[in-house]
Amino acid sequence: MTETVAFPQDRTCPYHPPTAYDPLREARPLSRVTLYDGRSVWVVTGHTAARRLLTDQRLSTDSTHKAFPIPTERFAAVRDRRRAALLGYDDPEHNVQRRMLIPSFSLKRTTDLRPRIQRTVDELLDAMVEQGPPAELVSAFALPVPSIVICDLLGVPYADHEFFEAQSRRLLRGPTAEDTVEARDLLEGYLGDLVDHKRANPGDGVLDDLVAQQLAAGHLDKQQVVELASILLIAGHETTANMISLGTYTLLRHPEQLAELKADPGLMPAAVEELLRFLSIADGMLRVATEDIDVDGVTIRANDGVVFSTSVINRDTAAYADPDALDWHRSARHHVAFGFGIHQCLGQNLARAEMEIALASLFDRLPGLRLAAPAKEIPFKPGDTIQGMLELPVTW
Ligand code: HEM
Repeated sequence: MTETVAFPQDRTCPYHPPTAYDPLREARPLSRVTLYDGRSVWVVTGHTAARRLLTDQRLSTDSTHKAFPIPTERFAAVRDRRRAALLGYDDPEHNVQRRMLIPSFSLKRTTDLRPRIQRTVDELLDAMVEQGPPAELVSAFALPVPSIVICDLLGVPYADHEFFEAQSRRLLRGPTAEDTVEARDLLEGYLGDLVDHKRANPGDGVLDDLVAQQLAAGHLDKQQVVELASILLIAGHETTANMISLGTYTLLRHPEQLAELKADPGLMPAAVEELLRFLSIADGMLRVATEDIDVDGVTIRANDGVVFSTSVINRDTAAYADPDALDWHRSARHHVAFGFGIHQCLGQNLARAEMEIALASLFDRLPGLRLAAPAKEIPFKPGDTIQGMLELPVTW
């Protein structure tokens, strides 16, 4: 029965796992799914098994491995040529790259950024109030908040945001495989020019540090700096933007929980954690087995593909009571929305700070915020990309 479930699939409701995954929820902790190219792979759906397997070094993230699971045609088009920095490498190579970046994304560095994030959020809300109501929240708020913040942190000129946001969009959900490759090449060309510029004109962003320290010392070559810049820039704005847009939509669809949050703003950090669990926007982490692995009575064979359905794992009844309910009072912190193990999200402290400040300020400044179109008509992203709202018309 579960053999026939295709992966990934579109959600029926933007904040719940696809109903098509129901058989997977019945068959925890592991079952089988079929990818777009017809290949059958393992899908991990149980919370304990997921955390165990995500720390197992016999599962590799090397996307150039011949047996790596390919979830979409777009992914197939870019994966052969080269792997993503960080995420595409196993240790020890991965660790070398990660250690260069850890200080820039530490809790301390992120806490220091909070006033800057708050200023950005306030300015965007000022502009929205001046021009509205109504407003389209993705373009007016959810996307610019993380985009401005990651530009600032990396040392990328925000003036170029329309260009790099467009290329990221094409990379993540362009219409054709050719489009994906072209977008990747354009983005890397742009970042290559930026690296050259920084060699001659050093600034104080994370990319400037990489150029001044790692590139100059020969620890990284230019292409490696460009690839790191590319993943940081894309992951830095696309993911958090989706959490802000989908988080807002979800809160507006859960008036009781929203009222509770407004009455007690101290709940916000717990609410962000619960929204991360509930929404699981990065729904499909990919691995290939390099050796046989025994887990929960089954054997994952060497060269088997393995996908992790974050949304199903984060709704495991063995880990969370009443997992389909949005509840600020549960302990959601051990969710896998940021992954787990060596590849656990590098930007998670930053993402948490952005979400807390953005959502708290939005509802504080616009207490009457509501949807400006029937909820069911508002378009959201397809299942083969990071989940979020395509548009979010609001009024207040
Ligand atoms: C709420 C927003 C975010 C979500 C839900 C999210 C989710 C994830 C997930 C699930 C992974 C692990 C993927 C895997 O193991 O296959 C990951 C890795 C990563 N994320 Fe995030 N992310 C978010 C925000 C950010 C931000 C703001 C940055 C900033 C630069 C970032 C940078 C990265 C990087 C570089 C990796 C790869 C880490 C490694 O391989 O060591 N992410 N993220």
